[in-house]
Amino acid sequence: MGSAKKWSTNSPAETQHIAASLARKMQPGDIVALYGELASGKTTFVQGICEALSVREPVTSPTYTLINEYFGTMPVYHFDCYRLENEDEFYSLGYEEYFFGEGLVLIEWAERVESLLPEHTIRLRFEHNFSGEGTRTIQLHAIEEQEELCTSLP
Ligand SMILES: Nc1ncnc2c1ncn2[C@@H]1O[C@H](COP(=O)(O)OP(=O)(O)OP(=O)(O)O)[C@@H](O)[C@H]1O
Ligand SMILES: [Mg+2]
Repeated sequence: MGSAKKWSTNSPAETQHIAASLARKMQPGDIVALYGELASGKTTFVQGICEALSVREPVTSPTYTLINEYFGTMPVYHFDCYRLENEDEFYSLGYEEYFFGEGLVLIEWAERVESLLPEHTIRLRFEHNFSGEGTRTIQLHAIEEQEELCTSLP
């Protein structure tokens, strides 16, 4: 079963506001997978999460390094898999240390590592919303165990 949630946002600030509301529900060990085409707002959303968790470093896509680590109210492991050649490369990165560690895991281009995502992964899909320039749609398809999280979000 599970439930779904859909937001429409009209600006980067609004996207970050939604992200902050999710951030407040997150705990170490949680994994958030972000899907969606270029410029759909994934990094913007990650910035909103990080700000809500009091991360002070600048948050940008870890394009060449694959992962950035930030320290806020909990560690944040920010992956961007856009340039990942294959899942083997993810293994050599030692991804398990992060996935099963003490921080919040955020993964852009999560479709590149789909088979490695644990069952409790929270999946967010980003889309351009053709009602206007600065608009985006964000969707959360929650599995049964995430229904409470889903209904508690604005
Ligand atoms: N409602 C909105 N929410 C988020 N970003 C928006 C919105 N409207 C416009 N934008 C703009 O769209 C761009 C989103 O870029 P962002 O880096 O967040 O996308 P991304 O999904 O991470 O892309 P990539 O796949 O290249 O990593 C930014 O330039 C941002 O200013
Ligand atoms: Mg990005």
